[in-house]
Amino acid sequence: MAARLSPRNSEVNALEQRGYLIGKKIGQGSYATVHLADYVDSSGPKKMRLACKIFDKEKAPKDFLEKFFPRELEILTKIENPHIIQVHSILQRGPRVFIFMRYADNGDLLDFIKRNGVIPESQAKIWFRQMASGLHYLHSKNVAHRDLKCENILLSRKFNVKLADFGFARFCVDTEGRRILSQTYCGSAAYAAPEVVSGKPYNPKLSDVWSLGIILFIMLNASMPFDDSNLRKLLKDQMTKNWVFRSRVRDTLSSSAKNLVRHLLEPDLTLRMTLDRSLQHDWTKVRKDRSSLLGRLVHSAPQTTRHGGIPAQYIENGQIAGDYANPEMKKSEMRISMDKT
Ligand SMILES: Nc1ncnc2c1ncn2[C@@H]1O[C@H](COP(=O)(O)OP(=O)(O)O)[C@@H](O)[C@H]1O
Ligand SMILES: [Mg+2]
Repeated sequence: MAARLSPRNSEVNALEQRGYLIGKKIGQGSYATVHLADYVDSSGPKKMRLACKIFDKEKAPKDFLEKFFPRELEILTKIENPHIIQVHSILQRGPRVFIFMRYADNGDLLDFIKRNGVIPESQAKIWFRQMASGLHYLHSKNVAHRDLKCENILLSRKFNVKLADFGFARFCVDTEGRRILSQTYCGSAAYAAPEVVSGKPYNPKLSDVWSLGIILFIMLNASMPFDDSNLRKLLKDQMTKNWVFRSRVRDTLSSSAKNLVRHLLEPDLTLRMTLDRSLQHDWTKVRKDRSSLLGRLVHSAPQTTRHGGIPAQYIENGQIAGDYANPEMKKSEMRISMDKT
């Protein structure tokens, strides 16, 4: 069961003395809660808005504490990239560990899609490119993420993508540079590649690419490609490519976007598009539009508040563009079991 943590008074005081103020809860994960936080540097009055992920070591299971949590901390301290959430500091007090990181003002991608529905193709392309480039950096450091999903993709103030949640991440080469296959079947079933669902040792970098394909599908359809309520059926659907683009987008999506999704959701590992090639794909390749389209528009035009802060370009004649908002989209609760090493 998810542990619900909020900082205790003595901890609040200790953190305040170091300049950290913990605010309201903004996220709940399996073994941690995420709170808003402010940091005031002793050298000046300027406040920095942060998010704080709080773990209680007394409430987490042993395999998590021995395996996943140390990896998350180690990896977080070794990575730095514009498309990966930046860690500000990590503090420990008694059984509690506080990971302070930059706050992503626009929340996570799942909430964004639930509110706004289908992401226009031009914006999906920018976000996909940013995700792929953050992941490319991670893979270049021989780190596989292994839990890529919309809840773990954060959106900054300028609507740029920041990959987050390294709770299942791991190094995928050993000290001699040999490739290590993963045997821990982690992540959410809905985003997990067939080789993960089937329980074979897998190459975690290639499985990350499948998850990226699922995220791209979700951005373009505001729905999931597979039903994950039955793992046997899920695997069969993945292997037989039993999925379709939603009818409302099928005719409007470019053939290039559809082609990329098909190559990412390729069950045959020898045929699945590599990350390098997906960055070079016609649909993804950089043209003029380098930064986030949403960021540029939002910051150059006054934002409408009539629609609960939905960016202006989603609003057409007072309606949410396309009217595709999909509040039915659920968090992917179904986890792959974690009982192997
Ligand atoms: N830096 C952040 N800025 C804004 N929201 C965040 C931030 N970090 C996490 N969140 C929110 O909290 C949720 C849980 O955080 P996450 O790191 O994914 O924890 P868990 O490992 O428990 O899933 C995220 O899905 C997101 O909604
Ligand atoms: Mg998460």
